[in-house]
Formats: sequence, structure tokens, C-alpha cells
Amino acid sequence: MPKKVVKRKRAPKPKPAPEAAITAVPISVKVNGKTHSLTVEPRTLLVELIREKLDLTGTHVGCDTTYCGACTVLMNGAAVKSCTMFAVQADGAELLTVEGLEKDGQLHPIQKAFGDSYGLQCGYCTPGLMLSAFQLLSHNRQPSEKDIRKAIAGNTCRCTGYQNIFKAIQLAAQNVKGV
Ligand code: FES
Ligand code: FES
Repeated sequence: MPKKVVKRKRAPKPKPAPEAAITAVPISVKVNGKTHSLTVEPRTLLVELIREKLDLTGTHVGCDTTYCGACTVLMNGAAVKSCTMFAVQADGAELLTVEGLEKDGQLHPIQKAFGDSYGLQCGYCTPGLMLSAFQLLSHNRQPSEKDIRKAIAGNTCRCTGYQNIFKAIQLAAQNVKGV
């Protein structure tokens, strides 16, 4: 009589221990001269931090795809699109938003020049454009039209036709002191 083959059961593989989801990361950012220490989810975008946690709603969201530049802010002096960065990437950084341009109730010369030159219509793109202009003028006080075009290449305006934006930045270059 043939021997009965007894199949041995394999011991089940141990399940990997579930990774604990990181839901809150402590960060510290200096925004318009004020330090904020707070926690954010790793997925929080920088623009969400600025608008929703810090209530600085002058930074706009136009596309969410790095195209329009409405969300432009300065991070350590460089223009960045805050819809395309995570808030945690700004940990330890210094940010400037449009709210930080005004000082002691006085408009910054760039803000004033945009008004005086009719460099805006609906104004949706304007905060981002002003911060790109700020970055340009911080290292080039006499920008050519080509310099200006290059500096604002990442900012889209759907209203003005750009001519008055160029004039505004040229006027700001004449008036700006100590940017
Ligand atoms: S909202 Fe960031 S580039 Fe358009
Ligand atoms: S002023 Fe309307 S989008 Fe630029």
C-alpha cells in the first residue's frame, strides 16, 4: 500500500510592521520678519501654509501647476512658486510675501509704481509680479526691458497686455531705495 504523503504546511510569512504615518512635522519659518513655529502635514503646500495657516491671502493660486506665478513669494531672497513646494521645504527659511512689502503704513515703491503706472487691472497676478520685480531690483537697479521680461517670465497676466507692467517696474527702479 503506497505511503500517504503528508504535506507540511509552511509557516506564514511574518507581516511587515505597519509604518507609522507621519501626520505632523514641526517647522519654523520667518515670514515678513515674524517667526512662526508650527506643525504641518508633510503634504501641505507652501502656499497652503501661507494662505490657510498664516492667513496671508495676498499670495494667490491661479493654476496649481507652476505655470501662472500668482503664488510667487521670495524664499531667502529668491522667487519661488509656492504652489509647487511643500511647506516642510521652507523649514528654517525666510519668506517675503506681498504683505511684507508695505512698511509702517507706507506702500513700497514697487507697489506705488504699479498703481501709478496702471500696471494692474483685476490684480490677481499683481502680488506675484511685484515679488518678481522685488527680486530683480534687489540686484539690478537699472534693468533693461530684456532684464524685466526675463525676471517676470514666470508670471502670467491675463488682463494688462504687460506694457504697463514694464512701465511700473521701470518706474519702481527709479524710485526704489534700499530694496
Ligand atoms: S498657482 Fe502657482 S504657478 Fe500658478
Ligand atoms: S491684472 Fe488681471 S491677471 Fe494680471
